[in-house]
Amino acid sequence: MTEIGAPNRRATTFIGGNGGEWAVVSQRALLGPPIAAVSRVAMIFGSTPGDCRDAAWILRGVATNDRYTTREEKHSLVEKQVPIGRPEATRAALILLRKNADWWAMPQDERRAVLEEQSHHIAIGLRYLPAVARRLLHCRDLESEAPFDFLGFLDFAPADEVAFEDMLGQLRSTKEWSYMEREIDIRLVKPDR
Ligand code: HEM
Repeated sequence: MTEIGAPNRRATTFIGGNGGEWAVVSQRALLGPPIAAVSRVAMIFGSTPGDCRDAAWILRGVATNDRYTTREEKHSLVEKQVPIGRPEATRAALILLRKNADWWAMPQDERRAVLEEQSHHIAIGLRYLPAVARRLLHCRDLESEAPFDFLGFLDFAPADEVAFEDMLGQLRSTKEWSYMEREIDIRLVKPDR
């Protein structure tokens, strides 16, 4: 039998271990159990990493279509956002998130209302573009059960670190975040080559 379909090009894999271009500066479990501490993280585009024998963990997610964003918000995002990987963006955060059953039990319109009308997630985030670039990956619909619902990767220049913390502080105090049941914040730096 032949498997139908090519590998998903929207997939990204993070490998925690002692290799990879990102050096870990801190790794904090803010909510729920931690994962193994690592010194390096590799970010690989695609879902089939090669040699992972030394990996402490492997996390995979896929970029997907927007679920909550309105046309107007989308327009503002497209106007301001930049892709991850700018040469000056030598700082990054890999934030692993899992929301609780109450969140997932809500219908789409109620989740949107909490995310934006009550928590202003998109409005807050927009204020920090283009200093912060982001890639959001979803894990709930993968083939195998995943420990997190989302992998958020955000990169920025060292000079924008304070602004980044400021944004995180605002997001974490929202109603949306009250639905979080697990959060791990891994801070990364790209060492000089
Ligand atoms: C750079 C500033 C940010 C902007 C512009 C931004 C923008 C957005 C937008 C537009 C969405 C909705 C996507 C959709 O329609 O499905 C979204 C969702 C999301 N963002 Fe952000 N965001 C930012 C920062 C962050 C940060 C710092 C985190 C992690 C701590 C984060 C985590 C998430 C998660 C987990 C979702 C998915 C929510 C869900 O589907 O339940 N975002 N963000």
